[in-house]
Amino acid sequence: MTLLLGIESSCDETAAALVTADRHILAHRVAGQERAHQPYGGVVPEIAARAHVEILPRLVEEVFEEAGLEVADVDAIAATAGPGLIGGVMVGLLMAKGLAFAARKPLVALNHLEAHALSPMLSQPDLAFPYLLLLVSGGHCQLLSVEGVGRYRRLATTIDDAAGEAFDKSAKLLGLGYPGGPAVEACAEAGDRHAVLLPRPLAGSGEPHFSFAGLKSAVLRARDSGLHRPEDIAASFQQAVVDCLVDRTRLALGRAPGATALVAAGGVAANQAIRGALAALAAEHGLPFVAPPLWLCTDNAAMIAWAGALRYEAGLVDGLDVPARARWPLDPEAEKARGAGVKA
Ligand code: KG4
Ligand code: ZN
Repeated sequence: MTLLLGIESSCDETAAALVTADRHILAHRVAGQERAHQPYGGVVPEIAARAHVEILPRLVEEVFEEAGLEVADVDAIAATAGPGLIGGVMVGLLMAKGLAFAARKPLVALNHLEAHALSPMLSQPDLAFPYLLLLVSGGHCQLLSVEGVGRYRRLATTIDDAAGEAFDKSAKLLGLGYPGGPAVEACAEAGDRHAVLLPRPLAGSGEPHFSFAGLKSAVLRARDSGLHRPEDIAASFQQAVVDCLVDRTRLALGRAPGATALVAAGGVAANQAIRGALAALAAEHGLPFVAPPLWLCTDNAAMIAWAGALRYEAGLVDGLDVPARARWPLDPEAEKARGAGVKA
């Protein structure tokens, strides 16, 4: 059975995993760097890259030890080659190149977004192409029609902040710390989601794109008004994000006929309020709702090894001269969203 080593280092998680093409996760490790970045309220790229250099070799050793295997036993080595923080991407990709070179194994240079997009198939064996994917992470907010390995049609993207970025920035504004998503979700539990009137940017517009910058500014104004408890602002913010995601996804469902399921992936898909609302939306359309388990939603290397196995089996391998890419659209043919790049 095809076996891949996967390596992930594109943001602040260092990870390694061994996964087979028939979905056996033989071993996986994720080392977060929260404590290193906490004092800065966000990921510091240089600190992240240096941490990957120190942590990654040990994690790779550990997964081989746990599985009782060695590099010679894998069929190929997969690593994130972008998009992401370029210093970190280079660390993981170069480690993968070194191993591939020394062990004479093929290299699979993966688009990190592709790994998120295919990750639901690792936990859900009966999920079939095509499916509509809402990819919501710290760096991305996209709706994609996932039509096959290497075949993705982008239906929507954010014109300013990503959903996770909105959570992280709002958490910072509310003094909830980093990482912001789980902190906002926890704080929101004690709040009233109808307490603070916040905008739903782009909701109702005819293109299914997203915008979150205005929402973040509204959180700042609500905080500075001194009229609201942080719990109420957090709950109202989360509800506004939920409403925007649902509204935009509903529109995209109309543009993805034949979709077999509504799927959510990426770190923000760990949010229970978002999962609940998307499950209800899918039910409305008579579709199953699929979301990977929480640990597979946030950055990890099992999804890299898994997507690597699918690409390897499709004959999609890369040379040792493959570049590391800070930017790398999954659907290069997607048109630029109108207003994209304009931040409020
Ligand atoms: O996919 P991911 O681990 O990393 C990338 O950005 O690629 O996503 C991280 C993002 C962060 O912005 C984090 O705040 C957000 O996912 N996140 C959440 C939750 N858990 C993580 N956002 C909302 N609710 C959560 N429970
Ligand atoms: Zn990610």
